[in-house]
Amino acid sequence: MDYFRRTKIASILSQPDEAGEDVLVMGWVRNRRDSPNLTFLEINDGSCLGNLQIVIDEPSKFPDLENIKLGAAARIVGRLMPVPDRKHKIELHPTEIKLVGESSAEYPLQKKRHSFEYLREIAHLRPRTNTFGVMNRFRSRISYAIHKFFQDRGFYYIHSPIITATDAEGAGEQFWVTAFDLKNVPVTDGEIDFDKDFFGDQTFLTVSGQLEAEIMACALGDVYTFAPTFRAENSNTSRHVSEFWMIEPEMAFCDLDENMQLAGEFLMYLFNYALNECSDEMEFFNSRIDKRRVATLEKLAKSKFEIITYTEAVDILKKAKKKFEYPVEWGVNLQAEHERYLCEEHLKAPVMVKDYPRDVKAFYMRLNDDGKTTAAVDVLVPEIGEIIGGSQREERLDILKDQVKHFGIPEDGLWWYYDLRRYGTVPHSGFGLGFARLLMYMSGMANIRDVIPFPRTPKNVKF
Ligand code: 4AD
Ligand code: MG
Repeated sequence: MDYFRRTKIASILSQPDEAGEDVLVMGWVRNRRDSPNLTFLEINDGSCLGNLQIVIDEPSKFPDLENIKLGAAARIVGRLMPVPDRKHKIELHPTEIKLVGESSAEYPLQKKRHSFEYLREIAHLRPRTNTFGVMNRFRSRISYAIHKFFQDRGFYYIHSPIITATDAEGAGEQFWVTAFDLKNVPVTDGEIDFDKDFFGDQTFLTVSGQLEAEIMACALGDVYTFAPTFRAENSNTSRHVSEFWMIEPEMAFCDLDENMQLAGEFLMYLFNYALNECSDEMEFFNSRIDKRRVATLEKLAKSKFEIITYTEAVDILKKAKKKFEYPVEWGVNLQAEHERYLCEEHLKAPVMVKDYPRDVKAFYMRLNDDGKTTAAVDVLVPEIGEIIGGSQREERLDILKDQVKHFGIPEDGLWWYYDLRRYGTVPHSGFGLGFARLLMYMSGMANIRDVIPFPRTPKNVKF
């Protein structure tokens, strides 16, 4: 198939001085224009945003050309020629044109602007549009940057399990995993008999890889996960999905303040990486998605995170002139509207809020000396609100046990988690960054469904 012989369009467009060379390209037709003795094809092979223009002087010499319609796949051999005064300084004059895969007049991506809503319905074709091509290449680059940040600092990439018997966040928003025949579930004394299920226990899709990351941090020191996580919460918002990739570093011998410092450095690294190493994508987002995107990221990359406690946040919100849908009192969880007020209107900066009331956060968070708050942190950015959630973990066995009792969590599955506190326990901390929320913020995309190739949301699991 000439896979190894072909030249990628990204390499042709980035080296316009290669004019004069003969190349073989393969890709899909993005545009076709015909005049009596001249045909232009624009070919995109997915390697970059740009198309390669194919200029055909004598269309009748190429029998396959007639069937090469919008969306068709083609293999073209020819000579690269310079075009000095155009955006793409190079075009291809073919000697061979072969139809690889035909298309038809029903091709759903005709040459016009399609709404994001329409494109979600054809998620199998939307990666072929400019916007979603850029988005998917950007996802790949930022994934690489995430690995690079941690690997350069001596963190080890670990793989936490997807199927789990525990509820890491204790919020009960988990999808069940079962091999039971749902029409005939074994019941003993009115209760589902999970002993008879595949794993001999009740199992779920994980909401977080953190508990296993703690095991690994207490052996390897600094680790991180970058993996899918699942939430069965029924929230149909522009910021929630049921399946998303999370990055969760976990560090031994690290307290909350050090954890927050790392979270800040991590975000700044990623913002700078996007601006410096993905300037083509950022320029595209800036011109097509949000005109202020580059300026916003540049400003953020230079700013410092404000750090306030939850108690201070509540004071600010209670004094605010703004009317909130959810009223604020000490002890309630902060809603997106509160988070956005704090960073967009009051502090006008990204914010870290720490020391939340113990009852609004998870059981594993370290109890502060006041006995009322835990060493939790949420990192909030304008437009999105919470982008990172993290904490110092409770490393003291007796207090952890009190917490488990306080939250009414079944203890039997936690023996190994307790063991980490029995044998060589150390202060340790970590956080979770939602990858999709990060991409929304960087690209300016308003809906999380447009930064994930195949989003899973309530009542939607197509593709
Ligand atoms: O705050 P969360 O629930 O924290 C944890 O799961 C911890 N175990 C992390 C840790 O300390 N290792 O989730 C972390 C982040 C959120 O800040 C948000 O960015 C993202 O995950 N997130 C979601 N993203 C998209 N859709 C959802 N339904 C999300 N829920 C959380
Ligand atoms: Mg959270």
